[in-house]
Amino acid sequence: MRRKIIAGNWKMYGTRASVDTLLTEIKAGLDDSDCAEVIVFPSYVYIPSAQQHLTNSLVKWGAQNMYPALEGAVTGEISATMLKEYGCDYVILGHSERRTLFKETDDQILAKFLFAIEQGITPILCVGETLAQRENEQTFEVIAQQLDLVLQHAPSTLASAIVAYEPVWAIGTGLTATPEQAQKVHQFIRQQAEKRDKTLAEQLRILYGGSVKRSNANDLFAMPDIDGGLIGGASLNAQEFLGIVKLCN
Ligand code: PGA
Repeated sequence: MRRKIIAGNWKMYGTRASVDTLLTEIKAGLDDSDCAEVIVFPSYVYIPSAQQHLTNSLVKWGAQNMYPALEGAVTGEISATMLKEYGCDYVILGHSERRTLFKETDDQILAKFLFAIEQGITPILCVGETLAQRENEQTFEVIAQQLDLVLQHAPSTLASAIVAYEPVWAIGTGLTATPEQAQKVHQFIRQQAEKRDKTLAEQLRILYGGSVKRSNANDLFAMPDIDGGLIGGASLNAQEFLGIVKLCN
């Protein structure tokens, strides 16, 4: 039985005050009876606040990106060492906003992925097709390509990773894949992993992301290969986010 994960990607949102409130409310809203694993991803500058509020709580925290080196002359980047010093157990990698806005390539994402694993930080590898790719029936091809990167180079790393399927057309748009559309892709991801390692594929947690809210999460999470959500907009509201966590109970 795979434990569900509810992850909040806070992107470049929040102020010191609003993040403090959000952290306080989320922490207070959870107890031992909650089944899902809860992880939040604040902006880098608020990670120390997350550590302060969440140490010894039920909530884990991570970063939205990472540079694949321990240190160096790399202006503007954050190293794995720095993230570990602030208690980050997780890092989101290959988010479509990074692929699109910052032209991150598959090779760069692979380097980050392998480095995170080497450093004991669990990567959440994001994959997903654009609307044009879906309309051209290239969804499976695109996902296979993004996944193969990791599967070809280091299939065993799947044991220490999480995958997030985030159709680019559903991120921040209010459009959500239907549970059936999402399930088809999640099943495909698991099948691709199975070709390399059946046991690891069975254990691999695959999150869905793209306009998840309390009102649509239940139907998505009921699908056999959807193991939780990577949630953007709705994770910035503690009640909405906690509502999604409670659906897993
Ligand atoms: P959204 O973002 O829930 O606001 O669509 C999800 C994500 O980008 O991870």
